[in-house]
Amino acid sequence: MIILALLSFPVLWAFACGKESAWNGQTPSGTGVPGPFRPYYVPPGAKSYDSSSPLIHFTGSWFDSFNIMYVATTLRWTDEKGAAARMKFVGTGIEWFGGLDRSHGIAAVFIDGKKVQEIDTWSNVSRKQQRIFWIFNLPYGQHTIMVRNLGKGQVDSPLIDIDAFVVTEGHATLPMTLPLPLDLPNAATQPLAGQIQSFASQTQWTLEQKGVTGVSAMQLTVISDTHALIIDKVEHNPVSIGGHPAWAALFNLRTHAVRPLKVESNSFCAGGTFLSNGTLINVGGNPVVDGYTSAADFGDLDGLQAVRIFEPCPSASAAHCNIYENHSRIRMASPRWYNTVIRISDGSAMIVGGSKKGGWMNNETVNNPTIEYWPPKSIHNSIGLPIHLPFLVRTLNANLFPIVFSLPDDRIFMAANQDAIIYDWRTNQEQQLPRIPNECRVTYPMAAAGLLLPLSPEDGYTAEILLCGGSTIDDKKPGYEISSQDPASSQCSRLLLTDQGIAAGWAVEQMPQARHMPDAVLLPTGEVLIVNGAETGISGYGNVVNQVGQSNADHPVLTPVLYDPAAPAGQRFSSEGMKSSAIPRMYHSVATLTPNGDILVAGSNPNLDRSAVKYGTEYRVEWVGPPYMKKDRPLVHKPPKTLLYGQNLTLSVKFPPFTDKARNIKVALMDLGFVTHAVHANSRLVYLSFSLLSDEQSLQITGPPRPAVYPPGPGWIYVVVDGVPSVGFQVMVGNGDGPPVDHTAWDNLLKMTAVDQFEASKKTKGKKKGKYVDNTE
Ligand SMILES: *[C@@H]1O[C@H](CO)[C@@H](O)[C@H](O)[C@H]1NC(C)=O
Ligand SMILES: *[C@@H]1O[C@H](CO)[C@@H](O)[C@H](O)[C@H]1NC(C)=O
Ligand SMILES: *[C@@H]1O[C@H](CO)[C@@H](O)[C@H](O)[C@H]1NC(C)=O
Ligand SMILES: *[C@@H]1O[C@H](CO)[C@@H](O)[C@H](O)[C@H]1NC(C)=O
Ligand SMILES: *[C@@H]1O[C@H](CO)[C@@H](O)[C@H](O)[C@H]1NC(C)=O
Repeated sequence: MIILALLSFPVLWAFACGKESAWNGQTPSGTGVPGPFRPYYVPPGAKSYDSSSPLIHFTGSWFDSFNIMYVATTLRWTDEKGAAARMKFVGTGIEWFGGLDRSHGIAAVFIDGKKVQEIDTWSNVSRKQQRIFWIFNLPYGQHTIMVRNLGKGQVDSPLIDIDAFVVTEGHATLPMTLPLPLDLPNAATQPLAGQIQSFASQTQWTLEQKGVTGVSAMQLTVISDTHALIIDKVEHNPVSIGGHPAWAALFNLRTHAVRPLKVESNSFCAGGTFLSNGTLINVGGNPVVDGYTSAADFGDLDGLQAVRIFEPCPSASAAHCNIYENHSRIRMASPRWYNTVIRISDGSAMIVGGSKKGGWMNNETVNNPTIEYWPPKSIHNSIGLPIHLPFLVRTLNANLFPIVFSLPDDRIFMAANQDAIIYDWRTNQEQQLPRIPNECRVTYPMAAAGLLLPLSPEDGYTAEILLCGGSTIDDKKPGYEISSQDPASSQCSRLLLTDQGIAAGWAVEQMPQARHMPDAVLLPTGEVLIVNGAETGISGYGNVVNQVGQSNADHPVLTPVLYDPAAPAGQRFSSEGMKSSAIPRMYHSVATLTPNGDILVAGSNPNLDRSAVKYGTEYRVEWVGPPYMKKDRPLVHKPPKTLLYGQNLTLSVKFPPFTDKARNIKVALMDLGFVTHAVHANSRLVYLSFSLLSDEQSLQITGPPRPAVYPPGPGWIYVVVDGVPSVGFQVMVGNGDGPPVDHTAWDNLLKMTAVDQFEASKKTKGKKKGKYVDNTE
């Protein structure tokens, strides 16, 4: 049986071109000599076993080679067909490191006696200390890995070699109602005896662990029927591209295959949005990773001013979809780390706040209290340069990753720290809203979940905001006075954005559990699923006392809770029939609704670099299935691809068998959002006007009345009948044109601001300041 690598990294290596060289010609820190990057890495909590270890049992003829280029200077190789290396280990994962070159061939990897992958280690580029195989989602316990030379490939008598095995020791997972199904790459059709259990159960919600993301899922957005885009920071992720770790990937929602993407700059803590023509931008990030993360040169560029472009990628294979950046032409005017990015009614991106360099809690020195637009605009005399926003000064310190939503009246809701405003971007005016009650802080590093509740034509698209969780920790305290054991908030605050609603102030209710860093996911039914987060501590890593591993937070909340905004107060929360996860998901976790209607949950990485200690870097994906997934669902035939404002369209729908009672039909137009750090930017549900036609098999739906109700750009439509949604289909709302491009503003931005100012300022440190232009003060 030939199993093609689901995880495409070995394949990519095989076809990688060019001579092996240091990335970007930079020098690995500490050496002073340019050298090739090597993926070999032993994360905290993992243990490396060299090829010379007596614990590895070799059968057949193997030979030793010695070279300083090998792990512990030794490597063991074989050219004998059938020769094998076997090791028993206790833990949750294992990686095999070895070499690739023109003399290598195909190996089979077996876990616990079952073949899980065949890997071609042939490459026209010679690379050493490569991660050839990895698996991180084994149940905790004793396992065996075996690597066998299949004696086939591109050359006669091909070699395979073992340089080292790295074992993720892991720990027994927390008790669960049921064991999770084991998910091995490529092994889906070959259940391991006694280890896969059906998850179908009496209760209605389902929870399954299936698939791994390959790069840590810090940022997540659904880009098509078939794929989600995942963006991480620069770190030692197991998936590689061109011989070095990848920090972005396309994740196939159906097959769970991972395709690594090349990103040039460090995207650590960027924001993102789709534009009106369906192009996604990923904005901001962090400086170049240097010595303190590892001795390795990752070759990344400064990401602080980056605007990364990802053009629409509709093909089911997601082939040829790549991230493009070119800072000399496409960038922000000012550096931003932890900015929020949303799409506004003219189809462009509004970029809000952030800090001017990486750190933790924001402060006056690093704050970037401005907004800017992409593409840049000539507005309020800015000519493409940042526009000061006093709100972002008033809300220091805990005001990063502000909660921002475009409102149906074309103004912008913003919440940061304990405050909220409505910002009129056309007049540059702030309207102050009542303070969030009970000293609850809602933005980084005290992140709450923020949502614009469903908009509907019945009440003229009246906006209402929901904020859940966060923390009351004093944001003026230094880290050494904050503990991972400080309680989070269980408060949800709701504000109706009408004159009366604002006068009445925030209505407060309590979640069943406190949650800091929750993800709030709108469902097509209008309900909100709240998942992930921690009961104690604060966002970030390495900053507070009583860290767990490096996590600033502890006591992960493992059971989701459903919030029904339409239910009477006091009866809105329920976890009935829900499964608890065994996987903590705290800092750097994400969740999104999928086109299929279930919820993808991924991430968690409160660590500087990949770690395997408690609260380590989590790659496993979970799928939460609401009860409606198992019901007879409405089906939309030949869905349209575009929906203009006010346009009437007929949808042909196969309804589930009708019962006598009146049917409750809704048509939900949704933006699934760009998710990171509990911020679900652009998350939106607009119920469309519709009528059921007399044939009872079609609906006439009407596009949103104006761009402010649903900013032009991609969306998903779900037809919901009696609380059961169809599978969503993607539409382009509006005519698909790009946002306005103002060449005067763009040219002025390029002229008046420097490329990668932060890196430039580091280089001129101690010398006379160079071309460093700082427009943000
Ligand atoms: C390796 O192969 C790739 C594609 O097959 C080719 O583009 C590249 O030039 C080759 N490199 C070397 C060093 O032969
Ligand atoms: C980046 O932009 C500059 C300036 O417009 C251009 O000269 C260069 O060719 C671009 N590079 C790439 C890789 O597109
Ligand atoms: C402000 O934050 C930066 C980044 O975290 C930090 O380096 C600096 O020391 C802080 N300054 C003050 C005055 O706290
Ligand atoms: C769309 O349909 C509604 C209700 O049937 C009707 O009032 C409206 O005029 C129609 N709009 C257009 C643009 O045809
Ligand atoms: C969408 O507009 C942006 C901004 O002008 C542009 O960079 C991008 O290439 C456009 N995408 C498409 C698909 O035309």
